[in-house]
Amino acid sequence: MKTIIEPFRIKVVEPLTMRTRDERESLLCRAGFNVFLLHSDDVLIDLLTDSGTGAMSSLQWAGVMQADESYAGSPSFYHFEKVVQNLTGFRHVLPTHQGRAAERILFELVGGSGKTVPSNGHFDTTRANLEHSGAAALDLPIAEARDPRRRHPFKGNMDVEELRAAIGRVGPVNVPVVMMTVTSNSYGGQPASLENLRAVRAVCDEFGLPLFFDAARFAENAYFIKLREVPEQERPVRAIVRDMFDLADGALISAKKDGLVNIGGVLLVRDEALFQRACNLLILTEGYVTYGGLAGRDLEAMAQGFQEVLNEDYLRYRIRTAEYVGERLTSAGVPIVEPPGGHAVYLDASAFCPHIPPAQFPGQAIVAAFYRHAGIRAVEIGSLMFGGAGREPPPLELVRLAFPRRVYTQSHMDYVVEAVIEVFERRGELRGLKIVSEPPALRHFTAQLVEI
Ligand SMILES: Cc1ncc(COP(=O)(O)O)c(C=O)c1O
Repeated sequence: MKTIIEPFRIKVVEPLTMRTRDERESLLCRAGFNVFLLHSDDVLIDLLTDSGTGAMSSLQWAGVMQADESYAGSPSFYHFEKVVQNLTGFRHVLPTHQGRAAERILFELVGGSGKTVPSNGHFDTTRANLEHSGAAALDLPIAEARDPRRRHPFKGNMDVEELRAAIGRVGPVNVPVVMMTVTSNSYGGQPASLENLRAVRAVCDEFGLPLFFDAARFAENAYFIKLREVPEQERPVRAIVRDMFDLADGALISAKKDGLVNIGGVLLVRDEALFQRACNLLILTEGYVTYGGLAGRDLEAMAQGFQEVLNEDYLRYRIRTAEYVGERLTSAGVPIVEPPGGHAVYLDASAFCPHIPPAQFPGQAIVAAFYRHAGIRAVEIGSLMFGGAGREPPPLELVRLAFPRRVYTQSHMDYVVEAVIEVFERRGELRGLKIVSEPPALRHFTAQLVEI
């Protein structure tokens, strides 16, 4: 059979609210053309993020019901710990309430001023936590990653020569850790190959440096390796995941993605002394080491999610979703970042709306048009998110359509494709925006805009 179906059936349904176009028009104006300020029950199809927005399975809900809520030593923790140990090979497993809590703990321990942390592409919270510690975050993706139209199977790879040069330039003593983000969210949800992970590991060994993964989408990355890296094609994803983690000295995982849960995170380390220091910080700010700021039910849901995510029927359907949307959009001439990543399709807003200059937020104009036309919520990743006084303009103006896991069906995706193509066909009518009020930091969350 050629058709790739959703490998699940639906037991609980959540009705969607169908607002009229006039209603959406006034809701959009009231939200100051900022879709973060919409109430989510006014959104028909919510593609704002794939983080924490997935649907849990019947077995995850069963785990929630039978979880143990003891403060210390809960069986739910030991179940979670065993699953993560089997999956990753790490002995030391610390739960955190989400990915950025693990980042904050790690960088408080190894960051600090004068330090530089290279990566294939830091995610915003990773970068922010590093910078908050006083360290510098350095992105070293391969050149292809910066060109939306260049197709490359592993745009999440790191430029290994640049890594070697950067370590030489700042001095290995000033590099506390090298990071690989798998998949690379900031560059379009693009995977890193096993070959590249091994090459980065070799450079780390050359300089005696630890390698950490930001592994929020480790299973999607492993599935891309299986699909695209020749010697890996016959191997189970579970084995590829293990090969990946075997290369790392530590990992940060936001379980809100491939943990298939609505909240949760993990910090993994091999070094005993670092583990003890991380435990102390965890207790100070998150909670005791056997719950890390979560409830026992969250630990059970994660334990089940980390096993389900390795199901290859699920991963085939998951990766096919973005590929399918990407194929249909490109065949209608809509400019996207190619090839699509694992969790999202990114539209090239500058090519979509060449008549709107970056200063008038072409990405946000498109986001507003999707909501107005079809009730779809996307997110701008461009001058509104990254620009502002004293900041370098971002290299690309993008709009991201991120796909929650196991939530929407193919007909929802067909609706999204139809809406994007209809907006694209009338793109000349889209108008730029200007900001009327903005906060001092992270302005995209709360800024208010009007159409010019
Ligand atoms: C690659 C990556 N790292 C870290 C995070 C932060 O995780 P959390 O939202 O759980 O704090 C995210 C969230 O989107 C992410 O995509």
